[in-house]
Amino acid sequence: MSPLILDGKVASAALLEFLKPLVETLDPKLVVVQVGNDPASASYIKQKVKSCDTVGMRHEHRHLDEGISLEELMEVIDGLNNDEDVTGFFVQLPLPAHLESHAPDIIKAINPMKDIDGFGAYNLGKVFLSKEFEHLPPATPSGIIRLLEHFDIEIAGKHAVVVGRSNTVGKPVSIMLLNRNATVTICHSKTKDLEDQIRKGDIVIAAVGRPKMITADMVKEGAVVVDVGIHSTDDGLCGDTDFDALKLKVSAISPVPGGVGPMTVASLIRNCVTAKERQMAIR
Ligand SMILES: NC(=O)c1ccc[n+]([C@@H]2O[C@H](COP(=O)([O-])OP(=O)(O)OC[C@H]3O[C@@H](n4cnc5c(N)ncnc54)[C@H](OP(=O)(O)O)[C@@H]3O)[C@@H](O)[C@H]2O)c1
Repeated sequence: MSPLILDGKVASAALLEFLKPLVETLDPKLVVVQVGNDPASASYIKQKVKSCDTVGMRHEHRHLDEGISLEELMEVIDGLNNDEDVTGFFVQLPLPAHLESHAPDIIKAINPMKDIDGFGAYNLGKVFLSKEFEHLPPATPSGIIRLLEHFDIEIAGKHAVVVGRSNTVGKPVSIMLLNRNATVTICHSKTKDLEDQIRKGDIVIAAVGRPKMITADMVKEGAVVVDVGIHSTDDGLCGDTDFDALKLKVSAISPVPGGVGPMTVASLIRNCVTAKERQMAIR
């Protein structure tokens, strides 16, 4: 039987539709900060701006020179933190080489109330408390959870295996699955018997950053697979899983492209709406 395709275009459209009236009432404003001209970043920003337009959200693109100094970038961040009209903003990663090692300080400089990427320690820390404190969760983990929920995939009581432990994807999605009562195994490059671990998963989240690394023999029959990876190859885009082989074995799987990607963008928009709600409550 063919698996359920966890179509991120469908699920993100539903989320954006839900957000539209909230945007109309709350009138939030999102600012994108781009440093330099990384082509992949330009494409991600285009998708984010398009989703802002879909929901009618005000947005601004601060495109900064490739050679901007750390001090100058920090001044821009300070200005956005103090601008009452700006609801939320993010600095698109990756940064140019001379700023890359300062990324933690740059993320730290963003006011947690405006950190709509959810990458700062404050918002990540809240994710660790419980589901009720996931106010501005990181956008990709939040999108993964939303994708599962949209298609009524049960999480509670399931064994979820997350392959990857980055601070932006693997670790937070593991905690968010735990917050929803999954039993979670987190795998990484030093995991022994990786294949045996993955084979235990009722739900497998592939966030490993290696094209088609997770093959059909590694996954148990009937598992639900969410593929976070995105890679540009000579044959087009692919994810971290061997989609064509896996789809003959699993009960549900997300495609690449059109799976987690659109959910990440929609979750960012949702965070901007939540940020506005919370800022208004404080004011
Ligand atoms: N669709 C979206 O919106 C979206 C958003 C974000 C990221 N992504 C994609 O998702 C993928 C993961 O992103 P990321 O930022 O989490 O990547 P990352 O920071 O490079 O982390 C990759 C993780 O995979 C682990 N790993 C690498 N090779 C492994 C192996 N052979 N066996 C087991 N584990 C291995 C690493 O382990 P160690 O910790 O031990 O090194 C690390 O924890 C990438 O393809 C990225 O482009 C997509």
